[in-house]
Parts: sequence; structure tokens; C-alpha cells
Amino acid sequence: MRINKYIASCGIASRRKAEEIILQKRVKVNGKVVEELSFNIDENNDTVEIDGVQIGLDEKEVYIVLNKPEGYITTVKDQFDRPSVLDLVGDIKERIYPIGRLDYETSGLLILTNDGDLTYKLTHPKHEVDKTYMAIVKGIPTIDEMKKFEEGLYIEDYKTAPAKIRIVKKDEEKNYAICEIKIHEGRNRQVRKMCRAIEHPVLRLRRVAMGKITLKETKVGEYRHLTKEEVEYLKGLR
Ligand code: URA
Repeated sequence: MRINKYIASCGIASRRKAEEIILQKRVKVNGKVVEELSFNIDENNDTVEIDGVQIGLDEKEVYIVLNKPEGYITTVKDQFDRPSVLDLVGDIKERIYPIGRLDYETSGLLILTNDGDLTYKLTHPKHEVDKTYMAIVKGIPTIDEMKKFEEGLYIEDYKTAPAKIRIVKKDEEKNYAICEIKIHEGRNRQVRKMCRAIEHPVLRLRRVAMGKITLKETKVGEYRHLTKEEVEYLKGLR
């Protein structure tokens, strides 16, 4: 894009006024003063400054929900070069980040956005939204064990807030149960640690909802954009 058009697109000045600013040698691209009005920039990669202040195109806000496969990290990259969820949303040009995280081995619902205010709000301990998981656990939890889970239990030196657990399916012969688990907090590996604390370690874990946001028909490895109503709902949570 021509530099004067870019400056205008950023809402700084008209194209003509932008040319004046360029001729006054007040514009730098990647640290170098621009001398020519015909200078072209790569708006996705170049850094543009006017009077030493970086400018940029207003990004539109993007909100998506990804059905994360197992075997992906939710951070940008790690030292083991494992695949990242960002590899699955590469066709979105805005810089989006996950709201909260899921373990490498956990699958399911992950919301990603470039709306920093919403991310801050939804991950702040005060506003944590209910998260629903389906867990395959070893053995079949008893009523007493599930009660402990619901009352809050100690993981390391921390007592968890009340959570919910219900058995959806059990197989006594194969010795496992599928449980629906709802927690309000978001501590590191919390569901896994809570299940371990009642001696029913998680064999597989999938998140199915955050508040009332669900994956709907989104297939594993794919994403969908949240609807306007869903975005309003998330912004309105307290
Ligand atoms: N709890 C866990 O233990 N793992 C997750 O990925 C999410 C919640």
C-alpha cells in the first residue's frame, strides 16, 4: 500500500496532508525516514511511525471458538516445537490469542480473540465463567467421592471452590466412567488434579462449554465465528 494511503487509512490525516507529513521527514518505516511519496509499505509487517509514535490500522475485533484437537499447545510456541492452536487459525489475519488455556492433551472448546478487554475479564479470578468438561476417568466415583468433589478439596495447598460432577455413563467391566464436570475456577490442570484427588485420574478430557457458549457443529480442528449474540453474552457476564 502507498504510504500516504496507509497513513490516511489509519485515520491520521488525509492523503494530501499525509504527503506533507512525509515531505517534512516525520515518517519512519522500520526505523528509516521515508524520503519518497511513492514509497510502498507492507501493512502486515512494516512498522510505521510518525514523530516517533507507531501507528496502525484499526483491527476489527474477531471472536472464534475452536474445537481444539489433543496434541496442540495453547501458547504461541514452545521449546519442543509442538504444534500450536494458532496453526489451526492461520487464515485469520488478525492477531488472536486464546482466552485461558487447555492442556496439550485436552481437547474441545477454546475461544480466541484479539479483544484484550474481554480476555482480561474472562480470565480474571473474580469473573471466571463456568466451564463444562467431559472427562473419562479411571474407575467409577462413589457418591461420597463425588460429594467431596462438590464440597471442594485440596489440590496441593489450595482448596478448590465447589464444583459439580455427574456420571453420564459407566462401564464396570472396563472400569471407567464418563463424567460431566463443571468448575468455576481455572487453575493449572485443575480438573485433572481434582479427579486425581478423589483417586479417579482422568484418562481423557474435553471441554464442551464456557458459560453457555458451546461448539455447536464445529468439528475437531475447525473453528467457527461467535455470533453477535454470543459476543454480547460474553461481554455482559459479570
Ligand atoms: N483442567 C485441566 O486439568 N486441564 C485442562 O486443560 C482444563 C482444565
